[in-house]
This record gives sequence, C-alpha cells and structure tokens, in this order.
Amino acid sequence: MSDHSSSGNRPLIPGQIAAWLGVVSLVAAGLIVTGYSYLALRQGTSEDALRRQAQKDLRAENAKKAQALLTEPARNADGSFRIPLKDAVALVAKDPKVVAKLQAAAGPAPAPAAAPAAPAAASNVFVKASDEQMKRGAAVYARTCIACHQPTGLGLPPVFPPLANAPIVAGNPELPVKFILQGLMGPITVNGMTYNSMMPPVAGVSDADIADVLTYVRQSFGNQANAVTADQVKAIRAATAGRTTMWTTAELGLK
Ligand code: HEC
Repeated sequence: MSDHSSSGNRPLIPGQIAAWLGVVSLVAAGLIVTGYSYLALRQGTSEDALRRQAQKDLRAENAKKAQALLTEPARNADGSFRIPLKDAVALVAKDPKVVAKLQAAAGPAPAPAAAPAAPAAASNVFVKASDEQMKRGAAVYARTCIACHQPTGLGLPPVFPPLANAPIVAGNPELPVKFILQGLMGPITVNGMTYNSMMPPVAGVSDADIADVLTYVRQSFGNQANAVTADQVKAIRAATAGRTTMWTTAELGLK
C-alpha cells in the first residue's frame, strides 16, 4: 500500500528503464534467432546422420546379397560362379566395395600370365597404332567398356574377365568384334579363372568406333597386337547382320 502511494505521480515506466527494456528485448530477440538457427542446423546434421546410416544399411544389405550370390547353389558344376549379369552390375553400381568382398570370397586372383600374349601371327611385324587412333579408342573404351573391364583392363574377377594380357584380345579380331556387335555368354576361362557371365551387345558404336576401341585394347594393358581397321569391322558386321541372339562361347569354340 505504502509503495503505491510513494510512487505517486512518477510515469509508469521511467525513461531510463524503458531504454533498458528496449535493449533487453533486442538481446532476447537475437538469442531466439540464434537458437532457432542452431536448432535448424542441428536438424540438418541429424538428417545427414540418418542418411549415412541408411547408406550403411544398404551396403550391409548388398554385401549380404553378394554373399548369397556366392553360395554353393550359385556355382556351376565346374566351381565357377553363376552370377546373373544384371545382379552383378546392379551390385557393383550400388556399392563398389561389394567387388572387394566378391574378390575376397573368391580367393586370390590368379597371377597374370608371365609373358604378354603372343601377337596374332608371329610373321606379322608389330606396328604401333597412331596416337590419334589410340586416343579415339581410349574415349570409346571409357564410354563403352570401362564399367565392366575397368580402367586397368583387369576386369572384376569373378564377374568381368580381364582384357589385360588376354589372348582373345590379341588374337583374331573377328571374335571381339562379334562380342561387341551381338554379345557373348557361356563359360569362358581367362588367365586361369572361369567366368560364366554375359556380355551384352554394345550399343551405339560405329565400325570406326569398334576398330578404334579394339586397337586401343590390343595395344594397352600389356597386349601387343596390330591395329584393327573399320573395313575389317564392316565385313564382320555385314556377315553377321542377320544375327539376333548372343554368341555362345561353345559355338565360337571358346572354353
Ligand atoms: C556390361 C559389362 C560389359 C561391358 C560393357 C563389356 N564387356 Fe566384355 N565381357 C563382359 C563379360 C561378362 C564377359 C565374359 C562373358 C562370358 O562369361 O561368356 C566379357 C568378355 C569379353 C571378352 C572376352 C574375354 C576376355 O577377357 O578376353 C572381350 C575381348 C571383351 N569382353 C571385350 C570388351 C570390349 C572391347 C568392350 C567395350 C567395347 C566390352 N567388352 C564391354 C562384360 C562386359
């Protein structure tokens, strides 16, 4: 009671206090804004954590699928792996680490052949292809082969065979031209490892593209064989024009 009477005729909020209140409310507003953005940021980082966890789960699931693909029923009678290509490609695309697991499960890769593959015909003198053709071939390789046969040409055993030191690559170009045009399936042993997979036909490549890419692989990765010409490819394309099914290794005499 006495307080009320003592405050008498002063203004309800004296000027100085009003100024302080203004400062305090500014500071409070600042704190609220800071706190809010901190919370928003925190939410962002916890979303990242969720995303990381989801990726981890996906990897674990892929590893499990890869393992399933390698169980006994997934093997052929000769012990090679029967892995449907689309599964293999999907697995590799989702998680490159799966490949390391497949390789670990398949045991050590066989040592590459000691000597480079022999040139197609011993009487043929090896002629280095032009830098331009090698460059064009490397570009076609990067566009059409690299996902499976890898930048190193070592492939991804036991799913994709190597082109490095590979006799078929350095041999008669007719075979790889056929694989590229119509595809290849069936068991095939390359550098001591048996594959039983499928190479789909490679789409969108001209005769020149095929000549360039084969020249590139025949003179890279330890291979030493002469260039392939677009005319050679053209003749094989014409001779196989009616073919609508993939080549099988058995039909081509490949083992
Ligand atoms: C989608 C994956 C894939 C792509 C793309 C692909 N290949 Fe293949 N390639 C394979 C598979 C799988 C085999 C083994 C097929 C089998 O098991 O019968 C193979 C086999 C081969 C072989 C015979 C085996 C060996 O290692 O010597 C050659 C040569 C070859 N590929 C060259 C090429 C070239 C050149 C390109 C690009 C123009 C290419 N491949 C693109 C998957 C692929």
